[in-house]
Amino acid sequence: MSTETVKPENKPVRRVTTQSLRNMKAAGTPISMLTAYDYTSAQLLDGAGVDVLLVGDSASNVIAGHETTLPITLDHMIYHAQCVVRGTQRAFVVVDLPFGSYQGNSKKALASAIRIMKETGAHAVKLEGGKIEEDTIKRILSAGIPVMGHLGLTPQSINQFGSYKVRAQDAEEADQLREDALRLERIGCFAMVLEKIPGVLAREIAAKASIPIIGIGAGNGCDGQVLVMHDMLGLNNDFNPRFVRKYANLEEVIQTAVRQFIADVRSRDFPNENESY
Ligand code: KIV
Repeated sequence: MSTETVKPENKPVRRVTTQSLRNMKAAGTPISMLTAYDYTSAQLLDGAGVDVLLVGDSASNVIAGHETTLPITLDHMIYHAQCVVRGTQRAFVVVDLPFGSYQGNSKKALASAIRIMKETGAHAVKLEGGKIEEDTIKRILSAGIPVMGHLGLTPQSINQFGSYKVRAQDAEEADQLREDALRLERIGCFAMVLEKIPGVLAREIAAKASIPIIGIGAGNGCDGQVLVMHDMLGLNNDFNPRFVRKYANLEEVIQTAVRQFIADVRSRDFPNENESY
């Protein structure tokens, strides 16, 4: 089976794979990863050349307006992933296993991962947790499904943590995280996300691990960086954590355009002759 598709201008587009991500780490080429939850965004991000698209369970917050990632369901994630996959030609698409679709039951976890792969055409799943998810990760891997790990601030455990503050700041939690990260590598995860941990710890793990380490709020020593698309495009200026760099202010762009539309409708300037039949 070929991994090449052909663009209209006949240029073959080579899909990013787990192997190409490993090669990028080996070559010291940083990996770019952004979230996407719909077809149009996926097309835009893929066309701009992002390496990995994450159909994150952060859709629960930024798309559905929930306070946490807990309410989103497997069916919702599958719908978002189907839309994203249809919008990509090059990016490697990873889908979050949502809360309740894998914890505490490795057979259920495998069934959830298989649904994602079969019904969406995505390329890998991501799940949160270290040692506690070892059996689950091994079972999913046994079906040939690539697994991306996620350690540090794991938002599905927010009720246990009690806050979104930086994780692994004390020696005990840092040791646990180091151990979990090396365990995820050993059991066969192809990559992992480290979220909101001290930069020195993330750098140390990235240097020790042979698999790509993708950071979010984890400093500059990782093999790649991930951000939530809505945050980096400035679609929600009420959310301003230190780790987000805003590359645009789309909230202002969109609201200015919409205010102009409203004014044009009210003044009957829109539609004009050329915009009418
Ligand atoms: O769901 C998500 O957006 C994520 C990223 C924060 C890594 O897991």
